[in-house]
Amino acid sequence: MSKKSQQSTKAAEKPKVEDSKPKVEKNEAPQKESKRATTIVITSGKGGVGKTTTSAAISLGLAQKGFKTVVIDFDVGLRNLDLVMGCERRVVYDLISLINKESNINQTLIKDKRSENLFILPASQTRDKDALKEEELEEVMNELKAQFDYIICDSPAGIEKGALMAMHHADKAIVVTNPEVSSVRDSDRILGVLSSKTKKAKETDESVEAKLLVTRYSPERVALGEMLSLEDVKDVLSIPVLGVIPESKDVLQASNSGTPVTAYSDTQAGQAYLDAVERFLGQDVPLRFITPEKQSFLKRLFGGR
Ligand SMILES: Nc1ncnc2c1ncn2[C@@H]1O[C@H](COP(=O)(O)OP(=O)(O)OP(=O)(O)O)[C@@H](O)[C@H]1O
Ligand SMILES: [Mg+2]
Repeated sequence: MSKKSQQSTKAAEKPKVEDSKPKVEKNEAPQKESKRATTIVITSGKGGVGKTTTSAAISLGLAQKGFKTVVIDFDVGLRNLDLVMGCERRVVYDLISLINKESNINQTLIKDKRSENLFILPASQTRDKDALKEEELEEVMNELKAQFDYIICDSPAGIEKGALMAMHHADKAIVVTNPEVSSVRDSDRILGVLSSKTKKAKETDESVEAKLLVTRYSPERVALGEMLSLEDVKDVLSIPVLGVIPESKDVLQASNSGTPVTAYSDTQAGQAYLDAVERFLGQDVPLRFITPEKQSFLKRLFGGR
């Protein structure tokens, strides 16, 4: 079946999050012998564009592929990732207690209940971003690098301390952007920061490899001229596209139920994130969900999505 016909078939029988059980695949564990994690920052500049949603989705996607992955909430004072991952009741220690040596890695990391390869390092809710101390953070990152294949850093919004600390150790960046002018402008700004303020940029000639993830994309609204198109966003940011995630109420429902949307592999948003994970791992996967869905005659007649 062609991707196009797959897309329209899937759209026609689009499952609801509440109807579908999260699917967790068996791990194949293609793990490296001695680990030296790749660190990925999920960043944006602008707030509320989908960084935490993306951090949760990509980290579960990588873990399901067999990679030992830790996802770190850098949003000190406003932690959110634990809710999206559904582990808020299990938070005892956090990134700041770890940095301050009030806890150790084993005590602090929370094992995900869906994948044995996935661990969550929550943010502190009671401290502020000044508690993120550079040298101590470096020690923690080095310890994690030795144990994991991937470290995903969920950045807070803005370009202040928290965001700078989240990107400091990054090898790669996923720049989350909504198809609107202010989000694109802030992403452009963050690309400048990534190429000047990270450890990699400062200490080597290499820059952090940045890829674009356009989220909350609605092809129907693009066609109506209400939203920037993927081409418009690409023209401004000029970085390779990792994926396009459709606007979908499944995302909110998944996060309300404390589950990364990639666990719902029968939803379009889940599929789009899983495609992005494949592309991240080097597979050539065509983009989906970027053209308006053709509505059937009956759907047009009676309405509905
Ligand atoms: N593809 C999507 N479709 C619909 N809603 C989405 C999508 N992606 C994210 N959202 C919603 O947007 C809101 C913000 O998402 P999220 O918390 O991931 O953003 P953020 O960039 O981490 O925000 P902050 O900058 O405050 O940390 C949430 O309510 C989330 O459910
Ligand atoms: Mg967030």
